[in-house]
Amino acid sequence: MSIPWDPVSAAKGDYKHFMQKEIFEQPRALTDVLRGRIDLDHGAVLLDELTFRHQELRQLERIYAIGCGTAWHAALVAKFAIEALARLRVEVDYGSEFRYRDPLIGERAAVLAITQSGETVDTLAAMEEARRQNAKSIAIVNAVGSQAARLADGGAIYLHAGPEIGVASTKAFTTMLVASYMLALRLGAVRGVLSADEVRRYIQALIELPGKVERILERQSIYEELAERYHGARDALYLGRQVNYPIALEGALKLKEISYIHAEGYPAGEMKHGPIALIDRDLPVVCIAIRDSVYEKMISNIEQVRARGGHVIAIAAEGDTLMASKADYVIEVPPTLPLLTPVLTSIPMQLIAYHMAVHRGCDVDQPRNLAKSVTVE
Ligand code: G6P
Repeated sequence: MSIPWDPVSAAKGDYKHFMQKEIFEQPRALTDVLRGRIDLDHGAVLLDELTFRHQELRQLERIYAIGCGTAWHAALVAKFAIEALARLRVEVDYGSEFRYRDPLIGERAAVLAITQSGETVDTLAAMEEARRQNAKSIAIVNAVGSQAARLADGGAIYLHAGPEIGVASTKAFTTMLVASYMLALRLGAVRGVLSADEVRRYIQALIELPGKVERILERQSIYEELAERYHGARDALYLGRQVNYPIALEGALKLKEISYIHAEGYPAGEMKHGPIALIDRDLPVVCIAIRDSVYEKMISNIEQVRARGGHVIAIAAEGDTLMASKADYVIEVPPTLPLLTPVLTSIPMQLIAYHMAVHRGCDVDQPRNLAKSVTVE
């Protein structure tokens, strides 16, 4: 007797979709990306894969962080991290823009290419441009032996996230963030900006992230409730500030990609310059409003949305009772250092998009017109 066996569903295990499986793999992936690269006792980030001499790292004047799609959002977070922790200027560009704007890279600059597949043609072109101008490039990359890993003469920092099959990036994104934090800490230490104690404080917080992601993943019922309530929405707005502004962009992209609901991500302070005109009773607005230095500002943005009849889904800190009275729905995330919150706030973004898409009967793993990696222009 032969037992029918389908390798695709076997690889999915108990999950309905690869995207769902990959979302739930994040605690493991976030542990793996840190493995062997951090030394808590000495307050040091190792990253031995970097080929720069100390002197070169100290003399760097600028980093160009490049990516496409979700990886571009990781580049935006990397800018916050590197500028804050290493006091080194970072410019962020789309691969497709960078390659055609005749960039002035300079020898004391490096290109930081962020890419899951390592094969995205526009990102590779940025690395080639760096080489042409005698600047080194570093890759933050998942696919081992990919083109980006080979082109990275400054070193390839592998994500060790394992294969990502779902077109919408999940575990590759959150591990890109952690790799960026490690790079920022390494640069901050070498450049004398951070003491070993400060690095240790960040390492401790990074080590705690996988457990905190696990806690967020345990609470699933809210997402089904949201999908039930909002699956018919035509548009959605995502708002965040500071380092969570890129996560608002990422939340909107995820929703667009897999549920085909039109969504826009905005820095919340910009709402009054346009998106506020969209707010009506049919518009769900996802607001990232954790307890950070802009919390009060986010509260006032939420009040503005509510005053115009919009529905607020808040991503808030655990135990934030004020938020419960302000928003229609609250999704809680555990506390961490403000700069690291994107790793946690990303998880509800993925789950909102996933459940909406499932509810709408969309092909979650292979959304129409999209490819997992774009190797042609
Ligand atoms: C495609 C995928 C996105 C991905 C982007 C960049 O558009 O659909 O999910 O973020 O390419 O891919 P990369 O492999 O460079 O991270």
